[in-house]
Amino acid sequence: MSTYLLPDQNDCHHGASINAQNDIQSDEQHMINNLLATLPKAKAWRSEHIFLYKGFWLSSEVIKGLLLIHKHFTPQPTDIFLAAFMKCGTTWLKALMFAIANRHRYKLSDHPLLRTGPQSAFPFIDTHIFLDYPATNFDNLPVPRLFATHFAHGLLPTSITSTCKFVYVCRDPKDALVSKWHFLSKLRSKELPPLPFDEAYELFCNGVSEYGPFWDHVLGYWKPSQESPDKILFLKYEDMKKEPSVELKKLAAFMGMPFTAEEEKEGVVEEIVKLCSFENLSSLEVNKGGGGGQKFTAKVVVENQEFFRKGEVGDWKNHLTEEMKDRIDNITNDKLKGSGLTLGLTK
Ligand code: A3P
Repeated sequence: MSTYLLPDQNDCHHGASINAQNDIQSDEQHMINNLLATLPKAKAWRSEHIFLYKGFWLSSEVIKGLLLIHKHFTPQPTDIFLAAFMKCGTTWLKALMFAIANRHRYKLSDHPLLRTGPQSAFPFIDTHIFLDYPATNFDNLPVPRLFATHFAHGLLPTSITSTCKFVYVCRDPKDALVSKWHFLSKLRSKELPPLPFDEAYELFCNGVSEYGPFWDHVLGYWKPSQESPDKILFLKYEDMKKEPSVELKKLAAFMGMPFTAEEEKEGVVEEIVKLCSFENLSSLEVNKGGGGGQKFTAKVVVENQEFFRKGEVGDWKNHLTEEMKDRIDNITNDKLKGSGLTLGLTK
């Protein structure tokens, strides 16, 4: 059982005894195994296989999480979801959203993020939902409850997508690919041979990677963000790197917690930008192997330091040939054509 910041309010509900839990979980696992047996499968980047479920490639663990969300999660109209394709800025946004929502509770100079790192700021619902039985109860989280997810918009229950606000962050797919390959290569099962970058590239271009296809994921949030900008705020990692204060103010206003003129005058915006910057967060002891981590499943715990690599725009240049770059840019162009969205079409 992992807990989140504000532990007095965030302790999640503990359910049935371990034995009952194991019995029922194995029943449930049986059901999931039956479902998985019917789904197309492909080579995964971290584990052996991912499965095509309703148009998206998912690991068996997160398929279980998705089914539990559908069955057990009751959204509140005040909930705010942070959604992103993997490696597009979840860690950064987690820190920023938590800092915005709790800025009247904590001094920025002695902030819990400095002790715990962003992963502990709020739950990653895709897997946290099954860390307790029959599903984690999030009722004790402070309002607004904040959740992170990598699920595509269309996979989530409409009870959530029609009720809650979403912040979506995306990134040049070339950088997302490179970041994801580094990240999942480190987490890749030691029983499997390493996944060469060229093979990961090929799979990515074909849409085959955890939570992919990348482009369908992005468009799934982009389209409703255009129809209901008050419900989905669509951000780009590159814009945030370029003008963090501008994007932060947009984010706070969207969350219903705009900065006052006085806060702006006092430099609160810049302080939050600095608190959550790559340089600051990645240099903290807790994010450098100092004991912090994110528990995804009973077996998979990822140390905080794995969520910080370079934090730059354009690292793809160190991995892709000109030809590889052109191919992804062409796919991006084709997929996003007519949508009004452009991504990563750098010279
Ligand atoms: P790189 O691998 O390109 O460095 P996610 O948080 O969605 O898993 O994404 C991780 C990516 O965001 C990594 O990119 C990581 O270095 C970068 N990142 C993490 N924290 C950041 C921060 N505070 N500011 C900017 N980038 C950050």
